[in-house]
Amino acid sequence: MASARSSAVTTLVKRVSSTSSSNALRRVATSQSVEQAQGVPSTPSPTVNAASNVKTKPANYKKFAIYRWNPDKNEKPATHTYTINTNECGPMVLDALIKIKNEQDTSLSFRRSCREGICGSCAMNMDGSNGLACLTKINTDSGKETLITPLPHMFVVKDLVVDMTNFYQQYKSIEPWLKRKNPTTNPGREVLQSKKDRAKLDGMYECILCACCSTSCPSYWWNPEKYLGPAALLHANRWIADSRDEYTKERLEAIDDEFKLYRCHTIMNCAVACPKGLSPGMQIQMIKKAQATR
Ligand code: SF4
Ligand code: SF4
Ligand code: FES
Repeated sequence: MASARSSAVTTLVKRVSSTSSSNALRRVATSQSVEQAQGVPSTPSPTVNAASNVKTKPANYKKFAIYRWNPDKNEKPATHTYTINTNECGPMVLDALIKIKNEQDTSLSFRRSCREGICGSCAMNMDGSNGLACLTKINTDSGKETLITPLPHMFVVKDLVVDMTNFYQQYKSIEPWLKRKNPTTNPGREVLQSKKDRAKLDGMYECILCACCSTSCPSYWWNPEKYLGPAALLHANRWIADSRDEYTKERLEAIDDEFKLYRCHTIMNCAVACPKGLSPGMQIQMIKKAQATR
């Protein structure tokens, strides 16, 4: 009886250990398939994976020149160059930055969160153009170095991280929330609007406050404290155009100012820079038109 029980236990142990080892094998196989699906080679040179017969990409070494400055070190800002195999990371500039930080220099600082163009935190200047690092493809030409610098004309906190305080204060100054004088018909419920009125907010509500537009605007460069800049003005118009808001007149009066509004000279750099395809310059024109007719 005892020997029968011991043999049953041995069989059970064998089955458990064979299940866990096959699970372990499955996990290894799954992680290999994921790496292959992402185009990450298991060896640095062109090769054929014997197990799966899948060809991996040859190495493509590319240089990234990145602005570095550390306030805790008594050194001037400098450009540091890093070389990575772009076939070992994702296709976007943010993927390259993450690879550099993970594998070569953990002190490199940059902002990122969503990795899909929603949070607006990875805004920077890449090869002379403002954009989101997570939406900007790496130029895979290995002969061309990619230059990455912070958003222009902003105070630098560290490396690619800029001080957004003034930008957010300007956003706050336009009072970006619904303001009512009369109580709503359904207290405690949403204030409804027609589909037609809702459509008037298209081209504005999508803004993610990345600051690519404001930091590409020459007027904002020269008067960053006084001129509200394209992002804050786009949001000002978002509330001016909202059928549910009852402070349109006051909102227009608040920005009817030589510096706050009229520093926009329709240069339209803002529309070129916006990674969400918005046109703050056009919204500023709408505000000026509303000012002229009020
Ligand atoms: S259109 Fe106005 S806000 Fe846009 S870049 Fe030109 S001056 Fe700046
Ligand atoms: S308008 Fe475009 S560029 Fe400007 S802050 Fe909004 S999303 Fe960014
Ligand atoms: S990481 Fe969020 S927009 Fe790029």
